[in-house]
Amino acid sequence: LDPQAPSAGPEAYRLTINDQGVRILARAPAGLFHGVVTLTQLALAGNSHGGILLHQLRIEDGPVFRWRGLMIDSARHFQPPAELRRLIDEMAQLKLNVLHWHLSDDQGWRLQIRRYPDLVRLGAWRRPPNAGLDGEPQRYGGYYSQDEVKDLVAYAADRQITIMPELDLPGHAQAAVAAYPWLGVTGARPAVGVDWGVNPWLYSPGPKSIHFLEQVLDEVMALFPSRYIDLGGDEAIKNQWRASPAVQRQMHALHLPNEDALQGWMMGQLAAYLSAHGRQMVGWDEILQGGHVPADATVMSWRGTQGAIDAARAGHDVILSPSPDLYLDQLQTATDDEISGRSPVRSLAQVYAFQVVPRVLDATQARHVLGVQANVWTEHLPTAQHLEHAIFPRLDALAE
Ligand code: ACM
Repeated sequence: LDPQAPSAGPEAYRLTINDQGVRILARAPAGLFHGVVTLTQLALAGNSHGGILLHQLRIEDGPVFRWRGLMIDSARHFQPPAELRRLIDEMAQLKLNVLHWHLSDDQGWRLQIRRYPDLVRLGAWRRPPNAGLDGEPQRYGGYYSQDEVKDLVAYAADRQITIMPELDLPGHAQAAVAAYPWLGVTGARPAVGVDWGVNPWLYSPGPKSIHFLEQVLDEVMALFPSRYIDLGGDEAIKNQWRASPAVQRQMHALHLPNEDALQGWMMGQLAAYLSAHGRQMVGWDEILQGGHVPADATVMSWRGTQGAIDAARAGHDVILSPSPDLYLDQLQTATDDEISGRSPVRSLAQVYAFQVVPRVLDATQARHVLGVQANVWTEHLPTAQHLEHAIFPRLDALAE
């Protein structure tokens, strides 16, 4: 480790194998780790005589992008921690560095919050598709205890991977409202969601929900050292806000022209809370819609690449994770042994060919592109086998 090493950044390294031995030189631990990963891969590749044969070589290697992510949706289906550790191991092999963890949605709230125990007592469980078939209603789901989260965060950090948590708001809130109906708009208690799509349940933008979310973020920030915290922002259809006299009164009192602006205001309040604690908000590209996004908010472009172009032109940092190109729950072939997924097919070759930096950006705008991320939504991926079938080898192509 040498802070003066002539490498291209903290994640880069130089690996030299010659008759003096093996040397890995890097400026920072991440680079050193990547060099060790490469050395291990070389040592395991193509040794036919039972020994380990290392050819003399010199490799100068470093990532093109600072953000090389994988998003796992643990809300639609729950993955046990051991499965997440397996995925983290694979990410380390591919020198990816951010696991974006989608922890709340209509179909489940997965993160234990000590101050609000019903989030997981009620919000982490739903009726399975076969409930009641053999008599008793059953429940389906699961959650991560804070101890399990700490272990996973440390396991990832040992592999130079940051876990960025996402709590989706103001939409995709049905499981939270099922746990605490006062978080919602109507006062009614829905069941935790059992179907897929865009559901109408929103958090209220009022002071009680904002106070709740700040207290939840206190626990989130204590668990996750990630500078970036994702607050979602996608697909919040505003029917409940439009129909609520209290929400309409709040919107007018704030002199906001419409419900998109109210979402922008609400997310802006929480972004400011994060900033006050040295953290930074990430959100899906809808956060650009209503204005009021803080300048330091980072945009995750998912509705194609237009969100990335708009965000970079407006001076926001941006990560490319467009649907359908980098949605690994898209089917990867049209053959009938594909186990499950969404249409249309996104092949290995298409992922490989993905152009990360939109060509219409000039050099200054392009500097706002932090990197790239594959998203794995799990509506169609209920087990580890489904998940791994969908992720690999397309994630390898993206990493390369
Ligand atoms: C998303 O796919 N709703 C971000």
